[in-house]
Amino acid sequence: MKSKTEKKNKFPTYPCSLANNPHWKGEWATRLGTPLIVELGCGKGSFTLTYAQTFPDRFIVGIDVKSDRLYAGAKRATEWNINNVRFLRTDIFILTEIFNNNEVDGMWLTFPDPYPKKKHIRRRLTSPYYLEQYSKILKPQATVQLKTDSRSLYEYTLEMLALQPVEILAYTPNLYQSPYLNEENSILTDYETKFLAQGLNTHYIRFRFQN
Ligand SMILES: C[S@@+](CC[C@H](N)C(=O)[O-])C[C@H]1O[C@@H](n2cnc3c(N)ncnc32)[C@H](O)[C@@H]1O
Repeated sequence: MKSKTEKKNKFPTYPCSLANNPHWKGEWATRLGTPLIVELGCGKGSFTLTYAQTFPDRFIVGIDVKSDRLYAGAKRATEWNINNVRFLRTDIFILTEIFNNNEVDGMWLTFPDPYPKKKHIRRRLTSPYYLEQYSKILKPQATVQLKTDSRSLYEYTLEMLALQPVEILAYTPNLYQSPYLNEENSILTDYETKFLAQGLNTHYIRFRFQN
């Protein structure tokens, strides 16, 4: 078992790892390909990897600030020879420094930290600040999909979306008992696997910005 430090040091050595902002802003299509999907807060990357395997004609970038977690995804992508995936270590706060306007074809928010305390509300990945960043980098018609165990984050997100020029395409407090379940949104994340085993529901929202 590697220590956190060993994982952090190993992560940049994998071919799929982008250990820092690679300055591909405006060049993602030529550097990697399209359609370009991003997963924010991908953690150890199980969703990212299964997504890449399920949709070999798409390119997915898993983003997380913790390289010891990204290490797990990058290691498996390398061992399994998955070529349509990259793992980028960065803070989501600077997303518009990473991607150009209208550069991203789809976005996933997979079990983001719910930040239940009022004083941390701005850190929620569906706060107005983040929604504005997403609206810039996403192409017209591109969708954002959220999966969360947190009822409060789900409700907060619906409240924030009501204030935005967005079209909500689907929302449900229990994805697996809903008509919205499909091949894409049933791909499991690491946290989701744990939460489902505990009997918790996956709340789900799909929306797009009206440009
Ligand atoms: C609750 S975990 C979920 C991990 C994974 N999506 C899953 O479902 O298994 C949230 C992840 O978001 C990452 N994260 C939180 N805030 C972030 C930020 N501002 N920038 C980049 N990553 C962030 C954390 O490091 C963590 O790995």
